[in-house]
Amino acid sequence: MGLFLLILHSWLRWLVILLGLWAWISAFRHLLGDKQYLPAHRRSGLLFMISCDVQLLVGILLYFVDGWASQWHNFSQTMANATARFFTVEHEVMMILAWILVHIGWSQVKKSSDASRKLSRSVIFFGIALLLILLAIPWPFREVARPWLRTS
Ligand code: HEM
Repeated sequence: MGLFLLILHSWLRWLVILLGLWAWISAFRHLLGDKQYLPAHRRSGLLFMISCDVQLLVGILLYFVDGWASQWHNFSQTMANATARFFTVEHEVMMILAWILVHIGWSQVKKSSDASRKLSRSVIFFGIALLLILLAIPWPFREVARPWLRTS
């Protein structure tokens, strides 16, 4: 169960990034250009948000299944170890913050009736969320490193 979730979480990261880039780039291009909010903007924003929801759910399950949640019991030891600290606190805090930003952004986009404002809200909120996501991923070149695409 743990391994299946981990592989799923590792692969889903690419879907989240691709959908986030699609939502951000298309909103940015139209904000600079014709200022039209098109059905593709709605679709990409919605899919980005749904992919973040699914990734959050898998992440929460992993947090308990893989035992990271219980690391809070040895708090000082956990904080002293880079990997334990990253997967017990840092990764989760940044990703949950990103998830909140995506949701705030989406609700602002829905609330607004002005196309240009819809585009600017998408660019700001999805952009910051995407940046946080990219910063919180344990890329293979980082101190806490995980593979580009896990297969086992
Ligand atoms: C968009 C959001 C997220 C992305 C892109 C993401 C991405 C990743 C990646 C790439 C890994 C490494 C997987 C591997 O070892 O191959 C990972 C690990 C992990 N993530 Fe996330 N994550 C996200 C959100 C979350 C959230 C919200 C939680 C928990 C609340 C979470 C919990 C975990 C845990 C516990 C691990 C370590 C699993 C282990 O090695 O035992 N993630 N995440």
